[in-house]
Amino acid sequence: MYLPENLELLYTPDQIQQKVIELAEQISIDYVNKELHLVGVLKGSFIFLADLARALRGQIYVHFLHASSYASTQSTGKVEIRHGLRLKNKHVLLVEDILDTGLTSSQIIKDIQMQHPASMKVCTFLSKRGTRQVSVETDYVGYTIDNHFVVGYGMDMNEKYRELSYIAYLKDAPSDND
Ligand code: XMP
Ligand code: MG
Repeated sequence: MYLPENLELLYTPDQIQQKVIELAEQISIDYVNKELHLVGVLKGSFIFLADLARALRGQIYVHFLHASSYASTQSTGKVEIRHGLRLKNKHVLLVEDILDTGLTSSQIIKDIQMQHPASMKVCTFLSKRGTRQVSVETDYVGYTIDNHFVVGYGMDMNEKYRELSYIAYLKDAPSDND
């Protein structure tokens, strides 16, 4: 496994896959006999959503929307959402890579709620502790982490490192804990 010098390993591919299976088990139970519409938030959730989708049982549909609030490693607070989804009367599961300030997800949730889905829940692979500016109700959380900027498993730093099969801390990124 190639680990660049500026990265510190946080979760191995095995730990990630084990968590995905756990999440998928719970979600499959909760949505038994229901058609589930996964809505992934691009770009960060593309790998998690692909793994989750393959671990779920039952009828699922896959959608993506694009949201961005980050410039480099800091949330800009301004969230831009783009999609053409029709989710009225659908069971929707929002799939996020990571929850930080909560600004992105809360904006997306409002956006989806306006379409009157049959139900709406939130699944995030990672959740940062102590960083919320707005509270977001999360129904499925993989791992809760300290406030460090992380990359890999779909997550990037200026578009780099998305392809890594592990999740790592960026050693020299600015964070509130440093
Ligand atoms: P907010 O602050 O709106 O952020 O909850 C959610 C989105 O910001 C991105 N994000 C990160 N991306 N490493 C990343 O690569 C991080 O540590 C990180 N923290 C937030 C991510 O796209 C998430 O959907
Ligand atoms: Mg994202």
